[in-house]
Amino acid sequence: MDSYKELLKLIDRKRLPQHIAIIMDGNGRWAKKHNCRRIVGHLEGTKAIRKIVEFCRETGIKILTLFAFSTENWDRPKREVYALMNLLSRFLRQEINNFQKNNIKLLAFGQIERLPTKVRIELAKTIDATRGNRGLILNLALSYGGREEIVHACREIARQVSNRRKKAEDINEEFFNNYLYTTGLPDPDLLIRTSGEFRISNFLLWQIAYSEIYVTPVLWPDFNRQELLLALIDYQRRERRFGKVKNG
Ligand code: IPE
Ligand code: IPE
Ligand code: MG
Repeated sequence: MDSYKELLKLIDRKRLPQHIAIIMDGNGRWAKKHNCRRIVGHLEGTKAIRKIVEFCRETGIKILTLFAFSTENWDRPKREVYALMNLLSRFLRQEINNFQKNNIKLLAFGQIERLPTKVRIELAKTIDATRGNRGLILNLALSYGGREEIVHACREIARQVSNRRKKAEDINEEFFNNYLYTTGLPDPDLLIRTSGEFRISNFLLWQIAYSEIYVTPVLWPDFNRQELLLALIDYQRRERRFGKVKNG
């Protein structure tokens, strides 16, 4: 706790990332390390989510995007997928009051239609109930794949062009952005991946063009406020140039 307080002092509140995205990886390895089933690792992972959401809300982070389930994760064993979906609907049921009390707005993006009905019902209920909240935006990537998102956007745009509602010349980066699932949200400033893997795994391919990337070996269930502070300190030490030159 003491070192947590010390780390907190190192943070410049005026230069916090506005949008943090996290690839929450390592639940399975955590479970293996503790000699339990993978699902126990996923359950521990939801506890880490609670802590990180609370920290972001308290610190004044505007948007937290969490990669919770990828399009490729459907190919895991049926019982793991089933258990993850159960955990997800339970998490939403348990958190709705907390979201209301703490002014948290829930959003979800990805192929939501592929999710089981009971998850979609809980999602719709929570998104609707928290619609007016103006504190932290918690944005869950569910059945999400960056390539699928880009293809989905292209398909929508192609429809508009073939209906002659739009012209090919209208398409530019800003226009394209409007067809992505994340439309309306700024790109992530900081992308964190836990469990030490140096890869993107099909997350936010378009949006992370200029995100600062932070990889930690800590497994997701062990990720906590202190670890997030370390990521923020690292982020604040960097110089974001966006291809330009300093003071240029
Ligand atoms: C991340 O943990 C959670 C999901 C992908 C749903 P993993 O389940 O990928 O854990 P590892 O990578 O096997 O340790
Ligand atoms: C990325 O983790 C997906 C989520 C965290 C939801 P994975 O464990 O599925 O990715 P790989 O297999 O390590 O690339
Ligand atoms: Mg993994």
